[in-house]
Amino acid sequence: MIIAIDGPAGSGKSSVAKMVARRLCFQHIDTGAMYRAVAWKGQRLGIDLGDADRVAELAENLAIELIPGAEGQKILVDGQEVTSQLKSEAVGMGAALVASQSRVREILVAKQREIGKNGGVVMDGRDIGTVVFPDADKKFYLDADPRERGRRRYEELKLSHPEVDLESIIQQVRERDFEDKNREVSPLRQAADAIRVDTTHLGIEGVVEEIMREVQAQS
Ligand code: DC
Repeated sequence: MIIAIDGPAGSGKSSVAKMVARRLCFQHIDTGAMYRAVAWKGQRLGIDLGDADRVAELAENLAIELIPGAEGQKILVDGQEVTSQLKSEAVGMGAALVASQSRVREILVAKQREIGKNGGVVMDGRDIGTVVFPDADKKFYLDADPRERGRRRYEELKLSHPEVDLESIIQQVRERDFEDKNREVSPLRQAADAIRVDTTHLGIEGVVEEIMREVQAQS
């Protein structure tokens, strides 16, 4: 069984996907981390992330390992553990840029299909139900009001960056939405057969329960 969970930044999809995967003893694949891994490595090597040819070459040769563990998924890039480094805003901005390039998407989508081909996965991202696995057994599209998504991001960021400002984070969330929904290749959109879950007023547990109900109803 393949479960696809898509949605914008801050909709809660990664946390939800992780918990659903744990309940089902499935593997959780956070595809955003793969775009972030390409951006992180490019930044490390001083590659211009706007140079689509060089970025595609980098993505082609990059070893990205997603290792499930009790404290969540660990990400190794060319053998180096980079899990926390991938979460930075600078890497997120770079990831949005590389995610707009069609060759990088082709390369990462092929890797994602390979990882998920035997099923037993909960994969989250922006295009899982529309492009990566259009025949996924269950598709969910998580969404929430941009202000609430900004507030969640703010709560997370202020632990490590006490100087952050809520209104500017909300503004960044709106800008990221615009980029993800308006890019030419694989823009973020809800698959026609995806179940939409509005997480604005629902805690993570509530969303997980709703998804588990749908998954169990099918099996
Ligand atoms: O979910 P995230 O913030 O880790 O994603 C990082 C960037 O990668 C974001 O700009 C959206 C993009 N992305 C994508 O285009 N397709 C995916 N399947 C996952 C992420």
